Amino acid sequence: LTWLSSGPENLFGVPSFKMARFVEEVLSGCPRSSQEKKRMRMRLALGVLCLVWACAESVEPSAIDAEESALDSDIVSGETLRAAGATTRRKVGAAVDIDALSKDPTYASILAREFNAVTAENAMKWGVLQQTRGVWNFGPADALVRFAQQNKMVVRGHALVWHLQLPPFVNDSISADDLRNVMVAHINATAGHFAGKIYGWDVVNEAVDDTGGKMRESVLFKKLGESFIDLAFRTARAKDLNARLYYNDYATEIQNEKSDAVYALMKRLIARNVPIDGVGFQYHLDARTAPTVEQMVTNFKRFTALGLSVNISELDVRVKDVVGTQAQKLALQGRIYQRVAAACRQVTRCYGITSWGFTDKYSWIDSFFGADDPLQFDDAFAKKPAYEGQRLGLLGEAAPEEPIGAELLPNGGFENGLTGWTGSGAPFALTAEARSQTSAVKVTGRTETYHGVLTTPASGKSRQQVSRWFSRRRLSAPVCPTHMCESPARPLRMAG
Ligand code: XIL
Repeated sequence: LTWLSSGPENLFGVPSFKMARFVEEVLSGCPRSSQEKKRMRMRLALGVLCLVWACAESVEPSAIDAEESALDSDIVSGETLRAAGATTRRKVGAAVDIDALSKDPTYASILAREFNAVTAENAMKWGVLQQTRGVWNFGPADALVRFAQQNKMVVRGHALVWHLQLPPFVNDSISADDLRNVMVAHINATAGHFAGKIYGWDVVNEAVDDTGGKMRESVLFKKLGESFIDLAFRTARAKDLNARLYYNDYATEIQNEKSDAVYALMKRLIARNVPIDGVGFQYHLDARTAPTVEQMVTNFKRFTALGLSVNISELDVRVKDVVGTQAQKLALQGRIYQRVAAACRQVTRCYGITSWGFTDKYSWIDSFFGADDPLQFDDAFAKKPAYEGQRLGLLGEAAPEEPIGAELLPNGGFENGLTGWTGSGAPFALTAEARSQTSAVKVTGRTETYHGVLTTPASGKSRQQVSRWFSRRRLSAPVCPTHMCESPARPLRMAG
């Protein structure tokens, strides 16, 4: 049993609890009466059937691992990211910009050298594949699949159903029936086209809202209710038996209102027997609020306890708002990459980490959040501390947490006791005193901006020693693109 269920995603790609149930089922009780013997024969037949089913589900043919080991001759020293990942059979991926892949040879060669998994950054999204109803353009995505095959990488499919980058014919005026039809047609065509070539699909992306633990009011949810998720997974499974099927979302790194909602959704899907194998956690982090190893591991483990695998699907770490020199910012970023990788390694069923790109030269962050340096390689393809951090983390060495005063929340604990609060605007002052408005937090002992706020926020109008006041002021326009705001419905602003 231990053997059957070992590895980040076990041998058969079947949740360990299903395996355990099956083995128990087959082995339970020795036959005594002829009736029992008959029952036993039924059980064995059922067992064989289960085994056939389990093998059909296997998505990690040993060939992939054999090839990978051959390629990763430096596997022992773990000198590249993919070699460091392969020491525990973990996937180390990057999202790929197909344009850069075809035009920039340095980009292509680093990608091949460092990673054993790829995700299409855009090329497999619904609106990109099927701009016109009934017409699919698989060319660019096929080129990525070929590149991956040539370089012994697995491909993560992203994403079959998402409320953004939809084709123009999926809009508010579509009827529920029509939407159901086009969604099924899209999944059939896409999962069918790539069947056998995909390690796992993000079947549904970002279906949970940012506040209130509700489902996102997307066109899909408004027209079809939560059942669109069930239908998407069932359709994908029917077309590609071998691909693992994932739910993927952001701002779910730690236990908070949103990850609670995703967790509840997973339980509902499992209760309805929806074929889901795992959960992707995007991890678009701001270095000032990055989670601790303990927070990440604790959160992952409640999902794996449901029989699901977990993975980090879109890692990047913004540093522009960290106070300090560029070298300090990048060093902090390195420690965060290391903690994230180490956290994944600590969780048996965390099968891998994908970063959303790998060079700052082509990161999406600059156009969505402002100029930044969120990845492992700089604009000129030089390795940054983030590279070494991720490599060491994959080898099992966690970076120390940032030192903080006893009364302060650690990095990433920002939201813990303050559900719905987010910070925006200028960096925190470290020692300033301010008073006004209606509520405040008292912060002492803080020497760095990323130290977070006090565990118990004070409130009231009395004069207090604070480093910053937080006023609950509604902003008329979101401070970031809606889908990326941590709390777009209730953005809060630090007022000086
Ligand atoms: C982003 C891409 O990186 C951009 O190039 C594109 O313009 C918008 O989408 N969550 C996701 C990804 O699941 O698909 C998004 O990718 C980033 C946020």
